Amino acid sequence: MNIGIAGTGYVGLVTGVCLAEVGHHVTCLDVSQEKIDMLKGGHSPIFEPGLDDMLQKNIREERLHFTTDRSEAYENKELIFIAVGTPEGENGKADLSYVKTAAREIAASITNDVVIVTKSTVPVGTNEMVEDTVKAHGSAYQVHAVSNPEFLREGNAIHDAFHGDRIVIGGNHQPAVEKVAELYAPFDIPIVRTDTKSAELIKYASNAFLATKISFINEIANICEITGANVEAVAQGMGLDKRIGTQFLKAGIGFGGSCFPKDTKALTSMSAEAGYEFRMLNAVLEVNELQHNKLMEKANEYSAIEKGTKAAVLGLAFKPNTDDTRDTPAIRIIEELQRQGADIVAYDPIATDKMKEVFPDLTYTNSLEEAVNGAETAFIITDWAQIKEQTPAFFTKHMKRPLIFDGRNCFDPGEMVSGGVHYHSIGRSGNSFRMTMST
Ligand SMILES: NC(=O)c1ccc[n+]([C@@H]2O[C@H](COP(=O)([O-])OP(=O)(O)OC[C@H]3O[C@@H](n4cnc5c(N)ncnc54)[C@H](O)[C@@H]3O)[C@@H](O)[C@H]2O)c1
Repeated sequence: MNIGIAGTGYVGLVTGVCLAEVGHHVTCLDVSQEKIDMLKGGHSPIFEPGLDDMLQKNIREERLHFTTDRSEAYENKELIFIAVGTPEGENGKADLSYVKTAAREIAASITNDVVIVTKSTVPVGTNEMVEDTVKAHGSAYQVHAVSNPEFLREGNAIHDAFHGDRIVIGGNHQPAVEKVAELYAPFDIPIVRTDTKSAELIKYASNAFLATKISFINEIANICEITGANVEAVAQGMGLDKRIGTQFLKAGIGFGGSCFPKDTKALTSMSAEAGYEFRMLNAVLEVNELQHNKLMEKANEYSAIEKGTKAAVLGLAFKPNTDDTRDTPAIRIIEELQRQGADIVAYDPIATDKMKEVFPDLTYTNSLEEAVNGAETAFIITDWAQIKEQTPAFFTKHMKRPLIFDGRNCFDPGEMVSGGVHYHSIGRSGNSFRMTMST
């Protein structure tokens, strides 16, 4: 099929590359000339394992094109994807301005009947608005909007595109829904067909549920710290119950990233607008806010930071295998360290450039050794493999004072302490993980 895509961010680019990989002809549009120039040269502006190779292959085989020209992207297309951002707006509402602009631009450029596929995460009713906007802005053609929310995980996006748990397609015009289903046939992933509004809500409900699991286990971690239990043993013991499952039961300093915070807020705000107070989600957000402060609270308890203390911030991306620093818990920690006058060195294997947009004057390094060298305190924010593979000896050798506050429970507390590290993590009260199973 001939496809146009609005937006070449994490979602639009991965969608475009993967659809080209299965044989479709894809033209990706972005308003950023810089991104398009990079992409035309076969280089991805975002880090995503496997993406560059697949991008280059499909450009070479002439199934994948990049442009800033809307006519090239929207003329003579059977399907046009909207994959622009929907950032947090006023009062936590999703800011739909980019979606509205894209809809108006599509209306002005299409040259035939078309199905518009909304991949951006959007509140209930948005697809209806997109369809109305295109019709109202002068399109003489038949236009149907279909909701097709995206469930990729940054860092695993290519894998998820080919091995996702489900593809959700929501629409009220059956032929349009079937057209989108046909597009996805080569992926061999179960397809959930539903109405537009339910599809829109499935995305928010899924993210809100996962965020709830995280805040839940973080509350359990806090109880563990008070009572002397170990949250990893509790999570493992709970998760073995198939009704619960082990995923998203990892205690830490709370969720961040470009989706969970904004999507949970958008759902509470959408509910409030509909006249319903989503009490549980308000609590999930409140717990997450408090959890973001946990490491600094622990550091302050130990009077770890004074003016001029050399502090290493280990990990800036909101999770490993991505360079995305949007809403990363590292931001709060760095702000607080700056307020307390610490001398900060920030480490990340790939996300330092993105973080420079937030803190241009910070000292950055891509070398873990350089970051901890001479440091008096280290804060672990992202559980990168490069950090997890270290031994206590690495920290005692390089740090001036091996005092570590680990927000991702990367190490065994017993091993760290016996290795000479002053080690504080989340929900483990200094105890090693102890659990055995027998049949
Ligand atoms: N990042 C994720 O992991 C993820 C996962 C699932 C869903 N989503 C949702 O997908 C949407 C996109 O997220 P993202 O992370 O890819 O955003 P992003 O900010 O990385 O990318 C959006 C892109 O759209 C471009 N753009 C803006 N207006 C445009 C226009 N009128 N025409 C063409 N391009 C335009 C921007 O320049 C940018 O490159 C959001 O709604 C997000 O919530 C994101």
